[in-house]
This record gives sequence, structure tokens and C-alpha cells, in this order.
Amino acid sequence: MKFFVDTADINEINDLAATGLLDGVTTNPSLIAKSGRDFKEVIKDICSVVDGPVSAEVASTEYDAMLAEANEIRTWGDNIAVKVPLTEAGLKVCKQLSDEGTMVNVTLCFSAAQAILAAKAGASFISPFVGRLDDISSDGMRLIAEICTIYDNYPQFDTEVLVASIRSPMHIVESAKMGAHVMTSPPDVIRALYKHPLTDKGLAAFVEDWKKTGQSIL
Ligand code: E4P
Repeated sequence: MKFFVDTADINEINDLAATGLLDGVTTNPSLIAKSGRDFKEVIKDICSVVDGPVSAEVASTEYDAMLAEANEIRTWGDNIAVKVPLTEAGLKVCKQLSDEGTMVNVTLCFSAAQAILAAKAGASFISPFVGRLDDISSDGMRLIAEICTIYDNYPQFDTEVLVASIRSPMHIVESAKMGAHVMTSPPDVIRALYKHPLTDKGLAAFVEDWKKTGQSIL
């Protein structure tokens, strides 16, 4: 399973990249606004740190404007995945860009029907938002299971399931059990994956017992 981080904070990205576990980055207009930085500058910075796909999202909703923005965004790095919304215009742009060899991440997916359309439009990634579904008392993980099943039924679909809007480590574990290709989560959720109270407790005991031996390894 590939790990993407969902942030436009370059310090967080540098920190996670140093672990060697980071396969890509996703951003969206809200995350760019939160960074307080120029869109192009921050995306270029991210592309210089991470080799894997870096998703940068169009801002317009009409086809012509969206295509013009997509054509600009894809010049910002060799590893750019242009992010488009799951609308008719977005999927038209997706088809055009993917036919020309540009990676496209189709975002704001909330149904299996939408995921089928994105795959037919040649998306590199489909981003179903599990947390936002959970937030409205719908089952986000059930959507991931449905999309994984459908894509498995059609090996000619090259689209990777990128689980987005992750809120907890269990979203990641459940996604891995279902065979989702990629997950993107906030930095804190990735860090939470390391944590287990028995690891902390066990390590503290080993450290104490080692002191009693009076030995040193080096
Ligand atoms: C994915 O690409 C989105 O940027 C993101 O996962 C949305 O998450 P949110 O629902 O926490 O805003």
C-alpha cells in the first residue's frame, strides 16, 4: 500500500519524507489556503522533495477554464498528478489529460457509480472520501470495499483506489485489508500508526533491565 500525506505544509512533508515511507503527496485548495503560501511555489517545493505523485487541484469548475488550469499545473513538475473534481467537466479534462500521459487524480468521489466513470475516463487515481461519508452517518469504508471489488472485476481499469479523507489509523488498516492501492492522510494519522501502549511499556522495561546489566553495546 502506498502512503501519501494530505498536506501542503513543507515542514511536515520534509519530516515524513525522512522516514522513507512517503510515496506521494495530496493537496487541495483548502490545504493551500491553510499553508498561506503561493500555490505554484508550494507545489514546486513539494515536487523537489518527493519523487512520487504530487496532487495539485484545479480551482475552476467550467471545462475550458479547468483545462487551461490543468495545462498550467502539469508544467510544475514531472511528478504532478492534476486533481480534478468528479463532475462531467472534470472527467472530460481527466480523459484528455490521461490520453496525453498526464497523471490525473479524480477527487470528491462519494459513490461507486462515480468511481466507475473515473476509471473509464482513464484516471490514475480515484479519491473516495471516507471521513466525510462517516461524518454524515454513511459508511465510508463500505464504499472502498465496493470500488475495490468493481475495479478487480475489470483488470483493464488502471485506476488506483486512493483512500482519502482519512480520520484514524483504522481507516488505513481497513483500507489495506480491502486491497486499496493508496491512502492519503493527515500527518498526525500517519504518526499515530507507530503507536501502541504495549510497545511503550515493553520498551521502558527493556531500557530499565538493560541498565541493570551495566553493559554497553558500543
Ligand atoms: C484528498 O485528496 C483530500 O485532500 C482530503 O483527503 C480531504 O480530507 P478532509 O475530508 O479531511 O478534508
